[in-house]
Amino acid sequence: MKEPLDWIIEELKEIRDENLFRTLTHIETGQSPEIIINGKSHILLSSNSYLGLSVDPRVKEAAKLALEKYGTGSGGSRLVSGSSDLHRELEEHLARFKNTESAILFSSGYLANIGTISSLVGEGDIVYSDELNHASIIDGCRLSRTGVRIYRHLDMGHLSSLLESDSETLAKKLIVTDTVFSMDGDLAPLPELTELADNFGAMLMVDEAHATGVLGERGSGATEHFGVESRVPIVMGTLSKATGSLGGYIAGSRELIDFIRNRVRSYIFDTSLPASSLAASIAAIDIIENEPERREHLWRLIKRFKGGLETLGLEILPSDSAVVPVLIGEAGSAVEFARVLRENGVFTPAVRPPSVPYGMSRIRATLMAIHTDEHIDIAVEVFGHAKDKCGI
Ligand SMILES: Cc1ncc(COP(=O)(O)O)c(C=O)c1O
Repeated sequence: MKEPLDWIIEELKEIRDENLFRTLTHIETGQSPEIIINGKSHILLSSNSYLGLSVDPRVKEAAKLALEKYGTGSGGSRLVSGSSDLHRELEEHLARFKNTESAILFSSGYLANIGTISSLVGEGDIVYSDELNHASIIDGCRLSRTGVRIYRHLDMGHLSSLLESDSETLAKKLIVTDTVFSMDGDLAPLPELTELADNFGAMLMVDEAHATGVLGERGSGATEHFGVESRVPIVMGTLSKATGSLGGYIAGSRELIDFIRNRVRSYIFDTSLPASSLAASIAAIDIIENEPERREHLWRLIKRFKGGLETLGLEILPSDSAVVPVLIGEAGSAVEFARVLRENGVFTPAVRPPSVPYGMSRIRATLMAIHTDEHIDIAVEVFGHAKDKCGI
């Protein structure tokens, strides 16, 4: 007789057969340019700590001091017992950084997206979502039980025709998009999106997870880069990537933030961030704003890396950020490519479905401002070796 959980064994076999089985690699160091795996040094080319701030001495010192003063855990949800002066200070920092009236923290970007989207719209409303939006946006849409209209990636004509076909309805409408797409690294056309939102009376929400710290003169993100800060009413971001810490946030008007504090379940019913993470984020945002040279160096490295890969004849998907996706194709080939990279001292795992569409598996390389030219040159050489070895 079958045991009730036997179906899991069958499903795992299917996952393995499709080359989609996921395992963990244990890294014995922080998110530095050179990491140790099984006692061996590798160049890290898959971190979202784009500015290297998770290992910055000033950020670590801020976290240490906060840990000493406040201890390890926050003790509860913000509304019950877990709201400290550091939460308030970071929210004020974020509002200033994102040029909005106010901001509100979540324990992660994932929680910010699922809670906010599912509270802004509900049954009978309509969400318009780019087909390559992050899973947390997709899950927020699912949780909201709204009608979801998926528009083709970056296709403003398609979005416009969908909005047009709903123009008679009085339902609330929400357009939601990543600003830098997490697996592709390309940019949403924010000026056109703000136009469409205005023309069709839709709310516009953008996810700045991979743009913050990387784009804009002050590093504030894509809204700053495109000069549309005052035209995007709902801005989501995370503190886990270029900010080098942990947490998520929504920035917007005072009313929007009051609404979230009163309505969003992933804010209300979740233990708040610990002091060490809050203090690290405050210190990191100061560095992002005051050290543009980190961003400038990062952009030089991106250019150098892409140039090197192009010379090798590898196919880079069109990206405009620190995410550099090298298209391989089938999942099995991408896994093999990543294995050869790792064997030769470069760590960047294969990205496979469901994170990317079938047939579009890739090596998603990400660069950090603490990489050197030498790291990049070595990485390019190893990519060349993997290309030859895998016959790509
Ligand atoms: C575009 C995007 N949005 C949201 C998230 C979730 O953020 P967090 O990791 O802070 O939960 C991620 C994280 O991978 C992301 O890439």
